[in-house]
Amino acid sequence: MKKYKLIAAISVIIAGVIIASCKTQFATTKERFTAAESPRALEHGRNLVYSICAGCHYNRGVNKFIGNQIEDVPGIAGKVYSANLTHSKTHGLIPRYSDAEIKYLLKTGVGRDGRFLSYMLRPNMSDEDINDIIIFLRSNADPALAAADTTIGLTHFTTIGKMYMGMHADPVPYKTGIKRPSESNPAALGYYLVDNLGCFHCHSKSLTSLNLINPDQTKGYLAGGIKLKGEKGMEVVASNITPDKNAGIGNYTRQQFSKALKDGEAPDRKLHPPMPKFDRLSDREIDAIYAYLQTVPPNGHKVERN
Ligand code: HEC
Ligand code: HEC
Repeated sequence: MKKYKLIAAISVIIAGVIIASCKTQFATTKERFTAAESPRALEHGRNLVYSICAGCHYNRGVNKFIGNQIEDVPGIAGKVYSANLTHSKTHGLIPRYSDAEIKYLLKTGVGRDGRFLSYMLRPNMSDEDINDIIIFLRSNADPALAAADTTIGLTHFTTIGKMYMGMHADPVPYKTGIKRPSESNPAALGYYLVDNLGCFHCHSKSLTSLNLINPDQTKGYLAGGIKLKGEKGMEVVASNITPDKNAGIGNYTRQQFSKALKDGEAPDRKLHPPMPKFDRLSDREIDAIYAYLQTVPPNGHKVERN
């Protein structure tokens, strides 16, 4: 018994030292920046927010951006809830953030209180796309953003979760002046979208080994296999979306690809969440993703579906 107590005591000390030695507070932004409004920015921002942020922040139970529990975080690490992004003065995060702070959060992963939050890190997102996201989030253009004075839960980490987060707190250096590739270069635009829409997050080897700066250097890039939590906790395995003819989507036509993305219908079955419905993407954007995916090296990794 004594021996176990000693081991437990030593483990607690080691955990304490690791947590203490990990940096958990980072410098915040001093930039002055105000997002520029335009009708185009508003509509484009709406499409981006529904295609990117909604997956985690839009609550389907109440049809509002009040947040959700992130079920893919293992219980041993704690409980993580995405934030309320409505205009609520008491519970909403957007009214508390300045435009510059939202931009800084997306580009570096550092929140306004100096914490590192990796979930929405988009180091390669264009300045224009970030501008448009902010314009939409601040607008009164959508009832799903209207103030909802409620919270779905507060993030809480266990000692193990804190250790993990501390060891992986790695803000990305702030960089501005990033441009979105033009539609005249479909493969480049396609890569940009696979990066910023987060396709490679779910469709590669592991959520914890993403290369956010150079997505195509991520382990098992687009070859699938991650087990994700779908509706009612159902386990859904993300597909191999490399152009391999047997294991991947090498046999997809452009039409079938569009149907899978927009309607959630693959040629052989209905697709389950968390595969999002990308019904706000333009035909040009779908063309671009389709063109880009054909340039990715085919990977024969077979994904077992239950
Ligand atoms: C993969 C899931 C995921 C996606 C996608 C996502 N978020 Fe989040 N977001 C979270 C989680 C989880 C938190 C809360 C983290 C915490 O409190 O520890 C959060 C917190 C926030 C916060 C509050 C940060 C704070 O200071 O507490 C803002 C603002 C935010 N997200 C904006 C966005 C925007 C804008 C997008 C789309 C561009 C987005 N998020 C996409 C998961 C996500
Ligand atoms: C939040 C995680 C997530 C994101 C983000 C995501 N996917 Fe998926 N995707 C999945 C899952 C899980 C499946 C498997 C669904 C099933 O089998 O029911 C899937 C299935 C697919 C399929 C069907 C392939 C097959 O098995 O025939 C295609 C195509 C696809 N995704 C493409 C994309 C593209 C392109 C993007 C980005 C625009 C994307 N996905 C973003 C999780 C995601």
